[in-house]
Amino acid sequence: MESAFDKFLNRQDKLLKQYNQKYFDKQHNKGKLTARERIELLFDPDTFEELDAYTPPASVSFGKTSKAYGDGVITGFGMINGRQVYAFAQDFNVLGGSLGSGHAAKIIKVQDMALKTGSPIVGLIDSGGARIQEGVASLSGYANIFRRNVLSSGVIPQISAIMGPAAGGAVYSPALTDFIFMTKSTSYMFVTGPDVVKQVLNEDVTPEQLGGASVHGTKSGVADFVFNDDESTIQGIKMLLSFLPSNNIENPSYLKPEDAIDRIDESLRDIIPADPDKPYNIYEVIDSIVDDNKFFEIAGNHAQNIVTGFARMGGFVIGIVANQPQTLAGTLDIDSSVKAARFINICNSFNIPILTLEDVPGFLPGMDQEHAGIIKHGAKLLYAYTFSTVPKITVVLRKAYGGAFIVMNSKGIGGDFNFAWPSAEIAVMGPEGAIAILYRKELAEADDPVKLKKEFAAKYRDEIANPYIADEKGYVDEVIDPAHTRPKVIKVLKSLDKKSISLPRRKHGNIPL
Ligand code: COA
Repeated sequence: MESAFDKFLNRQDKLLKQYNQKYFDKQHNKGKLTARERIELLFDPDTFEELDAYTPPASVSFGKTSKAYGDGVITGFGMINGRQVYAFAQDFNVLGGSLGSGHAAKIIKVQDMALKTGSPIVGLIDSGGARIQEGVASLSGYANIFRRNVLSSGVIPQISAIMGPAAGGAVYSPALTDFIFMTKSTSYMFVTGPDVVKQVLNEDVTPEQLGGASVHGTKSGVADFVFNDDESTIQGIKMLLSFLPSNNIENPSYLKPEDAIDRIDESLRDIIPADPDKPYNIYEVIDSIVDDNKFFEIAGNHAQNIVTGFARMGGFVIGIVANQPQTLAGTLDIDSSVKAARFINICNSFNIPILTLEDVPGFLPGMDQEHAGIIKHGAKLLYAYTFSTVPKITVVLRKAYGGAFIVMNSKGIGGDFNFAWPSAEIAVMGPEGAIAILYRKELAEADDPVKLKKEFAAKYRDEIANPYIADEKGYVDEVIDPAHTRPKVIKVLKSLDKKSISLPRRKHGNIPL
């Protein structure tokens, strides 16, 4: 008779045999790793503890079932760079990674454990969505996952990586998490697939065109990161985690810097072109001031007129929001406002100070923007900055005009330390607009209006659009030598280490949506 221990070993053996060559080939032939390989790559060697490995798919009266253990998802916890993280990886080889009741219960269990233990959670998505043959039980499974996504929001970091299909309701769990990764060519996300698009709109579209990584990484902004393949996606997740604390009560890790805290960079004195209408590359400024010139960008191909991402300064993690004069002259539009607002909310949730590098001529004008609601969407950015209580530092590099000056973490909305470079232009509007309004009559009557305009513009810059009025009145704390930006920011960042403010009590704020 089979002993109790033999039974235990046989069961283990059966599970191991499930992962045979055919199983690996099926995924590898599509350019994807298996769920198990992904988990192995994600966690530090020999640290992953699998839970519920033997859950069977539910038996059903309609459609296919399977005898495979695990019900199409691997769940558990382990260490990533020495820190505890929970994870689940959907297994497309079992019923298309579809979400049945057992599969959902496994994900829910790790969501609950991650929240209870204050650990980040990573979901590796590769699934045909709600398991059709399990009907409403699958839908309820998703509902319970979504609820936990919302309850965990702002408490523990939640990261999703789309490494295959994510269709229908399946997209909303990733959408509720903090960051979405996608792998190039092998992943797609859409609420309704190409077949439904054809039926309803009679349009032919491929999954890639509808919701591939290239669409979501650029146009929609749904994906924060796009990597070439499974391996680089998983490396990206680990890198992102290194900037985040385990939960909202902890601070991000401090890494003793090798880069000198007092390092100055004289090239920054010449980075702003003499012609105020000429662009320069904001990445050069960011790279120059952060530790080891290392900047980890988020949503780098979406709304490129604003740059967001993490770095370290003096060893402390910092979130950077910077206008990019090379794209749309650095103006704020709907996409860039929403992108930056979301990033600021994440920084605030996870105790990450925010550094704003400002060069913004204003909001992008035009019917398209106004009719699509730039008022409401721009307000999101204003709200996010104002509501956040983490240390907030601004450096005005050049333009800081009008509403955009206010929005980009001005002192009035709560900036803790606001600096300006000598090249800063701080005013209600740029010289052209201001002169057209203030001197309309004089220009209309002038013999040489072009010459007069130039004279007025020079006078305006000299008397109004400079950093010195703001400095004298305390709207900026100091006009600084650009070369000293790094040591200056690190000094005030350290001084803000114990910053503590509390907001009036409320159920929740009402951010304009
Ligand atoms: N429920 C149950 N089984 C599913 C499933 C689902 N939602 N999605 C996929 N599967 C199964 C398929 O029946 C197939 O099983 P088989 O290998 O035994 O034949 C297996 O998973 C692989 O699916 P397949 O369609 O062959 O893979 P594909 O790569 O060609 O296409 C999808 C992948 C996701 C585009 C396609 O399976 C699909 O459209 N699924 C339904 C998506 C959906 O609308 N889900 C409901 C959302 S809430």
